[in-house]
Amino acid sequence: MNLFDVYSIYPIEIIKAHRSELWDKDGQKYLDLYGGHAVISIGHTHPHYNNKLIEQINKIGFYSNSIIIKEQHILAEKLIELSGLKNHKLFLCNSGAEANENALKLASFHNGRKKIIAMKNSFHGRTSLAVSITDDEKISAEINKNHDIIFCNLNNHDEIINQIDENTCAIIFEGIQGVGGIHIPARELLIKAKEKCKRVGAVFIMDEIQSGYGRTGNFFSFQDSELMPDIITMAKGMGNGFPLAGLLISDKIEAKKGLLGTTFGGNHLACSAGIAVLDVIKNENLIENSKRLGEYFFDQLKSLKKIKEIRGMGLMIGIEFDFEIKNLRDNLLIKHGIFTGFSGKYILRILPPLNIKKEEIDLFIHALNIELN
Ligand SMILES: Cc1ncc(COP(=O)(O)O)c(C=O)c1O
Repeated sequence: MNLFDVYSIYPIEIIKAHRSELWDKDGQKYLDLYGGHAVISIGHTHPHYNNKLIEQINKIGFYSNSIIIKEQHILAEKLIELSGLKNHKLFLCNSGAEANENALKLASFHNGRKKIIAMKNSFHGRTSLAVSITDDEKISAEINKNHDIIFCNLNNHDEIINQIDENTCAIIFEGIQGVGGIHIPARELLIKAKEKCKRVGAVFIMDEIQSGYGRTGNFFSFQDSELMPDIITMAKGMGNGFPLAGLLISDKIEAKKGLLGTTFGGNHLACSAGIAVLDVIKNENLIENSKRLGEYFFDQLKSLKKIKEIRGMGLMIGIEFDFEIKNLRDNLLIKHGIFTGFSGKYILRILPPLNIKKEEIDLFIHALNIELN
């Protein structure tokens, strides 16, 4: 049977991985500066993570949310400790789109409204509501187009604030726009928008699916300010490759039996992956590492010519060029064995594991320098 052919793929079969290194079936080694799309937070095949999963699956891998799953509570405790968010509650699910879908649904349950404000260039996932707040016509089908969505320009603060009114169900921002090209929302905008939401009874949602979990040098990217979102969505780095996602929901939004639900979300194995990730982030100071090595990365990039702009925070970096980067990206992979990501045609997107080493950044800078000269 053939696969449903929707992905553009490189003809490379990776069979082994460790930290930021990958090996293909012919023994060729690669450097992973893409982290499987920001998913690999603590590095590939981390021994603590592997052991935790093996230990857990030998005990019990799955049971539904009809019983006590102690691992959910341990995960929640560790999340409070690392994120510092004491007044939010945790709901666990399986993917980023599902987290956003649930966040919007919850907002609408909370205030009974429908209007959603999202940003131009946004990406929030591919399920019905998540894709409707994603600013990309190409991935939206007719059936996704009946929702009440307004797209605003991230730079137009007045437009955004004026749109938040008594009919607004929720406003949603990405911590940093990833697919849209590594754009960081201004802190004063976020704070003003949150204040207006509070005034008119709208829900403020922060999508930290790509930018969260220590990647930016804070546990969540917005935590360099006093902003406190009503709902925060998380996925990607949360399970280091094990499908695990979640919502942090402020105390002001009330839970009722049956309001949200999922078969797989929060199972024993997924939670063990999540617990192991948080253990490693804490024990190996990976948030601090993201900050420090992010700064080093920026400094090294600044010394290169032919770069139009460098944007980002910590280890979520966009390198913009004034030429199309397809060949550059292919050459980095084929000639230098380095995986990178992209945002559109002109921007290289760098999303390495958070325990990347300085020498590995140097390898990339050296390769990029060769390709740009
Ligand atoms: C900011 C953001 N939100 C949501 C999603 C969707 O996550 P998933 O692919 O797990 O559904 C992504 C995925 O790239 C993302 O970057």
